[in-house]
Amino acid sequence: MCSIIGYLGISSAAPIIVKGLKRMEYRGYDSVGVATFSKDHINVRKGVGKVLEVNKTVKLDELSGTIGIGHTRWATHGMVTDINAHPHPSSSGEVAIVHNGIIENHEGLKKELQEKGYTFKSQTDSEVIANLLQYNYDKTKDIKKSIIDTVSQLKGNYAFVAVFQDGTLGAARNHEPLIIGVGKDGYFISSDVLGFVEYTDDVIYPDNREFVIIDTSGLKIFDFEANPVRHQIIKVSKEFADSYKGEFAHFTLKEISEQPTTILSAGNSTQLEMDLASDLIRHAKNLYITGSGTSYNAALIAKFLFSKYAKIKIDPLISSEARFSHDVFEENSILIAISQSGESADVLEAVSIASKAGSKIISIVNMMTSSLVHQSAISIGVNCGPEIGVAATKSFTSQLVVLYKLVDKLCNGCLELDFTKVSEAIKKILSNDSKIRDVARLLKDVPDIYVLGRGIHYPIASEGSLKLKELTYIHAEGLPGGELKHGPLALMDSDSFVLIINPNDSTYNDTLMSAKQIKARGARVIGISDIPSDVYDYWIDIPSIGESLYPLLEIIPIQLLAYYAAIEKDTDPDYPRNLAKSVTVK
Ligand code: BG6
Repeated sequence: MCSIIGYLGISSAAPIIVKGLKRMEYRGYDSVGVATFSKDHINVRKGVGKVLEVNKTVKLDELSGTIGIGHTRWATHGMVTDINAHPHPSSSGEVAIVHNGIIENHEGLKKELQEKGYTFKSQTDSEVIANLLQYNYDKTKDIKKSIIDTVSQLKGNYAFVAVFQDGTLGAARNHEPLIIGVGKDGYFISSDVLGFVEYTDDVIYPDNREFVIIDTSGLKIFDFEANPVRHQIIKVSKEFADSYKGEFAHFTLKEISEQPTTILSAGNSTQLEMDLASDLIRHAKNLYITGSGTSYNAALIAKFLFSKYAKIKIDPLISSEARFSHDVFEENSILIAISQSGESADVLEAVSIASKAGSKIISIVNMMTSSLVHQSAISIGVNCGPEIGVAATKSFTSQLVVLYKLVDKLCNGCLELDFTKVSEAIKKILSNDSKIRDVARLLKDVPDIYVLGRGIHYPIASEGSLKLKELTYIHAEGLPGGELKHGPLALMDSDSFVLIINPNDSTYNDTLMSAKQIKARGARVIGISDIPSDVYDYWIDIPSIGESLYPLLEIIPIQLLAYYAAIEKDTDPDYPRNLAKSVTVK
């Protein structure tokens, strides 16, 4: 996914836009660019790389004018090059656009426009929007009509912002996020409130298939059928403005360190929704739970908690696979959708497939202003504040806390939850991380690492391996301990490193047996446990706690290990290569 932004007001636009792009950089950081309108001309500056790097060389924030647009890119079509960076001007230069999403019919449109004499410089799908707007504007000399004609021809999920030759800003959304900020001295258009929350917390959420025109006479919103639309101005919580690293070197380390606090506030803001959700679940015909990446690993944990403690069967579904198993959903099915951002396209697609089949949607979300919340019957807030680091950390443990609270309601308090104790235990792990740093140094040149867990600890092994992949680029694999002897054991030799998740619970002896089998092949074993053992070459100690709550503790040392190994390997923990915070394209 990319980030797009626009500003029209009385202040200099470029510095405001560059600041907004820096805040939204987690959405994509292959290239960045800004275009401003001044003295009847659209000026474009762009380059490959992150916001601060590119700004140093091409001076994005020194562009003149009080009207402008900006973009950070997560490449989908066309290599990561200067020419493919946004903004894209039309062939006459009278319109420039920034775009997030995918134009599925761009090849056909490009061919038609080339036959009409419009030229293209880039390999992107996005540039077709600029020339199509130009072509429709040339026909009508009317900006509103040119946007209506353009959106009627575009296919795919998209949001774009355009600046026209007379200084007008136009923007449209079709299944991609677009938010308007109403400031004291100007208007903002952005993919995310983070883009402008520093300047205003008054926002408008255009619905899907709506477009916006902003000029010196003000703001107008229309649907794609040209009908004027009015929306309420909503206040967003200023917590979004609090996305600073503070004394931490990286957002990822800051967010890992926030967990003693965030697990205590998880789900607190939506108690009523928690009650309503548990009622719906009790009466559901069948129950599914879905998510992508880390959120899917939380769904796997839910399967254990629901079946073991609430005696309720729930089927986890990888969101990106939902389109291949759409026949499972029916009337009276419940789908629980987990998503930090609430904008992952795969999750939104699974939700729309289930809704079309008459199923009800319960969502567990951090960004309560997101599309997923608007598409859910009930939304439970994870409430861990903005998460900027691309690899999910605090949102995962807060998702788990919400799932624990939901299951505890369904089993009438059978879990005896004590999150204060968990919070204290996490503080202990965070304050005693020297052993973890030592092990991280060992992983610097390791090509592969295996993460083992049994029962409820297997999803944690899967999440741990995901963290190692995302942050260190080491090939890491999560394995259910018992499966070792059915194949993966062939991989084990004296070069192998294996992380064993082995707390003192009902899985302890079986997992220790697996560790011994691995040790017998000469592999190095890192044990994460509240009990030491000679089998471990390196023991990472975690405090003892109630059997059901170990997943909340044992993931913390793995998050830290991945972070410190990333530092050792000099990768960028906050903005791992080729990834984005949530992927809004399918
Ligand atoms: C990926 C992120 O793009 O999306 C992961 O890099 C995340 O960290 C996954 O787990 C799912 O995102 P979300 O917002 O739907 O939970």
